[in-house]
Amino acid sequence: MTTALVTGAGGALGRATARRLALDGAPVAALDVDEATLAETTGLIERVGGTVLPIVADLRDAAAIEAAVATAAERLGPVRVLVNNAAVYPSRPFLEVPLAEYDDVQAVNQRAYWVAAQAAARRMAEHGGGAIINVASITMHGGWSDLAAYVTTKGAVTALTRALARELGPREIRVNCVSPGAFPTAAETIHPDPEGYTRFVLERQALKRRGTAEELASVVAFLAGPDASFVTGQTIEVNGGWVMT
Ligand SMILES: NC(=O)c1ccc[n+]([C@@H]2O[C@H](COP(=O)([O-])OP(=O)(O)OC[C@H]3O[C@@H](n4cnc5c(N)ncnc54)[C@H](O)[C@@H]3O)[C@@H](O)[C@H]2O)c1
Repeated sequence: MTTALVTGAGGALGRATARRLALDGAPVAALDVDEATLAETTGLIERVGGTVLPIVADLRDAAAIEAAVATAAERLGPVRVLVNNAAVYPSRPFLEVPLAEYDDVQAVNQRAYWVAAQAAARRMAEHGGGAIINVASITMHGGWSDLAAYVTTKGAVTALTRALARELGPREIRVNCVSPGAFPTAAETIHPDPEGYTRFVLERQALKRRGTAEELASVVAFLAGPDASFVTGQTIEVNGGWVMT
């Protein structure tokens, strides 16, 4: 498998995805702003015999994204798989969100997806194609109180997915989206009552158990690999049958 770049690789879903792609044989550039959690991801991948290059970078900085894609290419070979996974999710009533917070959410969850896709796709086009996977969220379907900025960006990345799939298809670059339901990660700490939240989730899912990060990672790996060679422009819901589309 060719080189993969995973953003937000210090977080639960990004970590599982980076690990899974490495187990599938991809050299993985693992990017995160959090050096400590990224080091844990690096150690995990090295322990299973994978090749990993940790890159500490802030996705709000477009030049840093360009540099990360270039570094990954230099050290591991051209990036042919990009997983735009990082996100921030500050929770606050819409009427109280400062513009600076909105801008920050937009920069990480949306603009960085654009910048990374552009930097990676330029190289993919030169090397015969590739795959881009954007991570959305179940929240984009039904809305979610106190998360308007986050939900907005998740809708945007599904639209970006379709636009890029159409435009980059002639270059053999496939662009897809995975939309996670509720996975028990750090993202859940925004809910004050963990047990109540789990009950809420299980009532809504068709499957009456919590999903695992590995179950999300396996769908990303499918979209990244040759088994999905004729799949582009799609959003795959990975939510235990909560929202069905
Ligand atoms: N966990 C869930 O239930 C759930 C549900 C729906 C969607 N998602 C989506 O899945 C993806 C991964 O979520 P997660 O649950 O693993 O969250 P997480 O918070 O564990 O991981 C997100 C990672 O992004 C990194 N990050 C944040 N800002 C950054 C920046 N400026 N530069 C570089 N890295 C930055 C964080 O350091 C963190 O490691 C996100 O896109 C999230 O929106 C998660």
